[in-house]
Amino acid sequence: RGVGVVVVAAGSGSRLGAEMPKAFVPLAGQPLLRWALASVLRVQSLTSLVVVVPPGYEAPGHPAWQGGWLPASAVLVAGGAERTASVAAGLAALDPACDVVLVHDAARCLTPVAVFERVVGAVRAGADGVVPGVAVVDTVKSVDPDGFVTGTPDRAALRAVQTPQGFRRAVLDAAHASGLDATDDAALVERAGQRVLVVEGDALAFKVTTPDDLARAEGLVADGRV
Ligand code: C5P
Repeated sequence: RGVGVVVVAAGSGSRLGAEMPKAFVPLAGQPLLRWALASVLRVQSLTSLVVVVPPGYEAPGHPAWQGGWLPASAVLVAGGAERTASVAAGLAALDPACDVVLVHDAARCLTPVAVFERVVGAVRAGADGVVPGVAVVDTVKSVDPDGFVTGTPDRAALRAVQTPQGFRRAVLDAAHASGLDATDDAALVERAGQRVLVVEGDALAFKVTTPDDLARAEGLVADGRV
């Protein structure tokens, strides 16, 4: 028994416009991935940690790891072309003894450890899958390929979801065995007919995607908010 965490950090980060993969872009002088791992390492009963990295970075001698900041317990795995493939590669490398699995985006580098604990607690309490989510502030429309609105879902019933997303191990393994692709892991579990619970997320769990996001993260660190 124990909690296994897969941190996906294999994205290129093309929308950030940096010359290195996003997870290695510095925030206040430290790679985004290092910030993300600082929270992960504080998760209670963490027994297995897998970090999924761009192909080539899985060599411990890669220059990106200079400075010795990679935790000795972390297992490095090369990612795939899509996020789903990266998660699947990470799952395959997790200690089989973990009964709870969390999947976390390295790009959500300032996620407080309390969010991790909330997700683990809800999985332990019996949920098949658990995602942190926050209320949506904008009114959201669905559109057709020409841009015409096809619907306006009731905003009160919507949540913007974040990571870490948590699952009973067998549930996530089965969902990934489908071979389907999705932008988050919960979607695969939903498609498999399992119930996913939304717990309270945190504004600090935002994903660093654009240069503006990075500037916001820099500001939060500079103001001592994290
Ligand atoms: O691209 P996006 O921002 O949705 O990526 C979310 C997370 O998934 C990031 O932490 C990124 O590094 C990771 N990812 C990955 N492998 C990919 C694409 C994204 O590990 N092929």
